[in-house]
Amino acid sequence: DKAFGVKGAMLEFNPGKCLLPPYHVKFAQQIIDAPIREDDIWLISFPRTGSTWCQEMIWLIGNDLDFDGARSTIQQIRAPLIEMSTVLIEIDSLGKELLENSVELINNLPSPRYIKSHLPLSLLPTELDKVKPKIIYTCRNPKDMCVSYYHHCKMFHRLQLTFEEFSDHLMRGLTPLGPVFSHYLSFWNKRHETNILFLKYEDMKRDLRGTLKKIADFMEKSLSEEDIDKLCEFLSFQNMRENKGCNFEGVLEQKHGKDFFKRVGDHFIRKGQVGDWKNYMSPELSKRFDDWIEENTKGTGLTFD
Ligand code: A3P
Repeated sequence: DKAFGVKGAMLEFNPGKCLLPPYHVKFAQQIIDAPIREDDIWLISFPRTGSTWCQEMIWLIGNDLDFDGARSTIQQIRAPLIEMSTVLIEIDSLGKELLENSVELINNLPSPRYIKSHLPLSLLPTELDKVKPKIIYTCRNPKDMCVSYYHHCKMFHRLQLTFEEFSDHLMRGLTPLGPVFSHYLSFWNKRHETNILFLKYEDMKRDLRGTLKKIADFMEKSLSEEDIDKLCEFLSFQNMRENKGCNFEGVLEQKHGKDFFKRVGDHFIRKGQVGDWKNYMSPELSKRFDDWIEENTKGTGLTFD
């Protein structure tokens, strides 16, 4: 409550495992029981790992580069977060207006469905493991993810902590959807399964063309060099930041009124850089992160730039 400035803003839903908005209780079982289709494409990730960016890549490749559709319908409707209702209700009653029940919305989507989730494996639909649809997982260097998540929690969850305090919470698994490493590793350890594609934000930044080809191959779609040129243009940081189809501006403005980002001085698609942590972390804090990362990845093969 202290961290998030609102009584009951977050709930330790399954003790010791994951902090979630209290409304998750309403939807948890429906999510776990949600029917999975073989031709679904899932994007699963810890928040702030470039998942909105990647979901836009997936949706456009799956929909033959329908740029008009991507501009005119917000991503939360085209390719929804299965737990969206719990998040939107948490930022107030907006969920009711926008998505009454994101699980039902997903259950009723025509195939092929493009679905996203930030939930840990244990809270995702159990049929994922049985039906084995295509799953793309994005992860990011935890230092940059932490900086990005700090801004996100201030904007979405009325976070009251300093950056140092937030970092400490994150490393102790006390930020929403924590702990980080059990999330990352639960999919890293499945990366060799044929229905899983594991991606890193830093690789998406370094080589967007290569990432697009990799995703298209995985989705069994072909892209010409001209298609890739168009995608790179549409998916550039600046274009995505301005695109109300995926920058969350419309969602936030419905609730908070016009020019929300301008007023709070922040953006959902914020900075898009690798290494921004250097602007936030003292040498001591950086060392704590390094030790924490080392301890949690030792022997796993998972590394970060
Ligand atoms: P920053 O806060 O570091 O800028 P998610 O969608 O998983 O919550 O991840 C959000 C992060 O992805 C943000 O990082 C955001 O700026 C970044 N991002 C979104 N679109 C991007 C793009 N087109 N290019 C680079 N980064 C992008």
